[in-house]
Amino acid sequence: MADPVVILGGSSFGAGELARLLTAHDGVEHPCLVSRSHAGSSVASVHPHLEGAYPDDRFVSRIDWSGLRGSSRIIVFSAMRAGELAGLLGEFEAAWAEAGVDNRILLIDLSADFRLDEGRGFVYGLSEWMREPLAGATRIANPGCFATALALGLVPLARELQPRDVSAIALTGSTGAGVTPGPRTHHPLRAHNCVPYLPFEHRHIGEVNRLLAREGSPLDWSFIPYAAPWVRGISLTIEARFDEALDPEQVAALFRTSYAESQFVRWTETLPELTWVVGSNRCLIGGRCRERRVALFVVLDNLVKGMAGQAIQNLNLASGWPEDRGLRQWIGPYPV
Ligand SMILES: NC(=O)c1ccc[n+]([C@@H]2O[C@H](COP(=O)([O-])OP(=O)(O)OC[C@H]3O[C@@H](n4cnc5c(N)ncnc54)[C@H](OP(=O)(O)O)[C@@H]3O)[C@@H](O)[C@H]2O)c1
Repeated sequence: MADPVVILGGSSFGAGELARLLTAHDGVEHPCLVSRSHAGSSVASVHPHLEGAYPDDRFVSRIDWSGLRGSSRIIVFSAMRAGELAGLLGEFEAAWAEAGVDNRILLIDLSADFRLDEGRGFVYGLSEWMREPLAGATRIANPGCFATALALGLVPLARELQPRDVSAIALTGSTGAGVTPGPRTHHPLRAHNCVPYLPFEHRHIGEVNRLLAREGSPLDWSFIPYAAPWVRGISLTIEARFDEALDPEQVAALFRTSYAESQFVRWTETLPELTWVVGSNRCLIGGRCRERRVALFVVLDNLVKGMAGQAIQNLNLASGWPEDRGLRQWIGPYPV
């Protein structure tokens, strides 16, 4: 029997992307989108690409959790803004307990609220490096979009090659800033611009450091993000310096081996470009070596592998389902 799905923060880009991807997932029912700002409106009025995908669907303001008592499991994705679920989780848990469904909830949070959580039992959902802890998890903190790109590039380097010094620069599209227009997302201010922000301070650094520490490979590294003019996608460059010259084939072999079991992460001989991953759950990594320096190039779609696609990958891992269930259309359109 398919599991019911609830998506909180229904008007977000994350919710629209989850609902799009879940049309291809045969383990779940059609999602119910909860929205405080758009309750009563049709889902397609906010997510026009979903027109006809879920006939007659409207955003709801709340869920009757007791009506879901007949389901052995209820999947809840939260795509609310940062800080909101942390403030509301106690209320949700009380409502789940009152409805008698508290032990059936699988909660996957897309926000940053529980990524560094020590006490509430959330598993950090960087799928490729957390498969074992994710199996059977009932609370999952989905990683940040930059953090996903950074971790997929940095963890193999740090674990196996111990670089002396690492710097990373990433450019992201405007969807990374969410649905509410602001100075960095409003089209006239962004369309022909490229803006560095939060140099050395972005909060995703903490997530990556925690994962590196978990892998026993703490690293001295820096990160500078840029707000770039396109809509979707992250293009990340990592430059690492070593004590001795590296053989390029050694680096390529490291990445091929690290992700040999990973359908969605792939080493490419040709340097990867953003449009090769937009719309898909893929992350492509390529690189070049010169003497003691290595440059890695990592691309992914912030709304898919950086958010909704990885959340579905984590649902699959938590459920013991094939990791690519619902994600089998894993190659995106080209050109975009
Ligand atoms: N965008 C990305 O690339 C990305 C990547 C990874 C993780 N994330 C995280 O995933 C979550 C969803 O991200 P998102 O970018 O799709 O959505 P978002 O723009 O952050 O919006 C999320 C939800 O917050 C509410 N909201 C939006 N603007 C509001 C406002 N001005 N006042 C009050 N409420 C407002 C809406 O909920 P209602 O529908 O209930 O009104 C909306 O659906 C966020 O926590 C984000 O940090 C985002």
